[in-house]
Amino acid sequence: MEHVPVLLEAILSMLQPAPGRTIVDATFGRGGHTRALLERGANVVALDLDPAAEAEAQKLSAEAGPGRFCFHRMNFGDWEQAAARKGPTDGLLLDLGISSPQVDQAERGFSFQQDGPLDMRMDPTSGTTAAELVNNLSEPELRTLLREGGEDRDPGKIARTIVRARPLATTMELAAAVCRATRPARPGSKHPATRTFLALRRAVNREGESLEKALSAVPNILRPGGRMAVLTYHSAEDRVVKHWIRGHAEEERREMGMAFGQPNPERWVKALEEVVPTEEEISANPRARSARLRGAERLQEEKR
Ligand SMILES: C[S@@+](CC[C@H](N)C(=O)[O-])C[C@H]1O[C@@H](n2cnc3c(N)ncnc32)[C@H](O)[C@@H]1O
Repeated sequence: MEHVPVLLEAILSMLQPAPGRTIVDATFGRGGHTRALLERGANVVALDLDPAAEAEAQKLSAEAGPGRFCFHRMNFGDWEQAAARKGPTDGLLLDLGISSPQVDQAERGFSFQQDGPLDMRMDPTSGTTAAELVNNLSEPELRTLLREGGEDRDPGKIARTIVRARPLATTMELAAAVCRATRPARPGSKHPATRTFLALRRAVNREGESLEKALSAVPNILRPGGRMAVLTYHSAEDRVVKHWIRGHAEEERREMGMAFGQPNPERWVKALEEVVPTEEEISANPRARSARLRGAERLQEEKR
């Protein structure tokens, strides 16, 4: 099936790719957004932790032409290291979460709809697997992980059922344990294991930590007038991005009654209008269903 990048037009209008501009696509995936940025003439520095993304990037390198595209297999929490080599960046893109190929490959362990090992690592060559977490954490630790990472409605009951069912080796075993702990899903509602899988994936990949680290490095890499666009797919992640933008945006700080008029190093971005997909986009690309795009523009130094 053709890969349709989520909210592509909105991202292009936020990041304004053009010849001579450099954009960091920190979640390359299959390169859907990167390809469109390159087509508009921008140079792209792409990052991803997944070796499969790296293989895809190698193909693109040949197509893009000399000097316009490079790829680093690294955590976007460390994007300052990659961006620093190119000088101040005109645009930053984060399309958080997992890609369709990652979900579709049962052996990666992300899906509760196909049986596979409980892995869930974006980088399958290092780190702790989901199986290690579900089999070794204490019941209270599991409960906290489920409550904080996926906002499961009854984390205590799910944690208890998982602990009784241990050892768990496969995605189907975990999904079955969650189903035993929860009421059957109503037709049309999400699978009961959705939040549990989300919580585990976030913990395995330390997703919250990487996002916080990436956001804290933005002032060191984005040039004045440059823009950042972040696509999230669940509320906990969206809250982090929303608070980060609000905490640094001039108009928000004015609304919050904070000192205004004096140069303030904290107030250095302008929030851009947030975008959610239309019904039309969702029916063309079901992956866009829960997407939310937020953006910010770095103020010119003299405006601060
Ligand atoms: C939603 S997909 C991106 C899809 C991409 N925009 C496209 O159009 O093909 C998210 C990607 O981010 C990568 N990823 C997730 N967390 C990461 C991290 N901390 N550092 C680097 N890459 C990460 C995943 O491996 C996945 O390929």
